[in-house]
Amino acid sequence: MKKVRLRVDAEVRRATKRDLPALGTWSGQVRDTFEPALERDDRVLLVALANGRFPIGHLLIDLGGVLSNLLVLAGFRDQGLGTSLIAEGERLLRERGVERSTLAVEKANEAAIRLYRRLGYVTEGESMEVWPEPLPDGKMQPVEHPSWVMRKTL
Ligand SMILES: CC(C)(COP(=O)(O)OP(=O)(O)OC[C@H]1O[C@@H](n2cnc3c(N)ncnc32)[C@H](O)[C@@H]1OP(=O)(O)O)[C@@H](O)C(=O)NCCC(=O)NCCS
Repeated sequence: MKKVRLRVDAEVRRATKRDLPALGTWSGQVRDTFEPALERDDRVLLVALANGRFPIGHLLIDLGGVLSNLLVLAGFRDQGLGTSLIAEGERLLRERGVERSTLAVEKANEAAIRLYRRLGYVTEGESMEVWPEPLPDGKMQPVEHPSWVMRKTL
């Protein structure tokens, strides 16, 4: 095995339609979630770009005060990118005078819950989130995920 040390700088910015093809190479959310969100003026999709070129993370913001769809590609985790995406999402909410940020996180997702707690989110209640997951034959079907609802005063 040969190892090559790479240098990756990541920047977080608003996504545009031109980012979607590259996102679509690894994300299954583009057609049903991100494309419609970019058509709305009450949604902002943030992307994290590696070396200014390739998307390695995303966060969707409902400007009413809800964060969702936080994801950082596996090879780029634990380096502060998830924290930066949330910080930028919260900044956009604050800028619009929104006083509370809310999100839902699967109860089994310990890493994400720890991250949100560290950033000041507290559990407010619970919900049943539903999102599509692949069956063994590759078909997608909606699956229920018991989740915590967490909130932060901005
Ligand atoms: C949850 C998720 C987005 C976090 O992204 P991330 O980029 O790893 O987040 P961060 O790097 O900011 O924080 C993760 C941990 O790394 C630590 N960290 C941050 N910068 C660091 C650095 N430079 N060096 C070492 N550790 C660092 C943080 O302190 C944090 O530790 P904690 O878990 O004890 O709080 C990512 O794990 C992910 O995409 N998971 C799958 C999808 C998912 O679960 N999304 C959430 C749905 S609700």
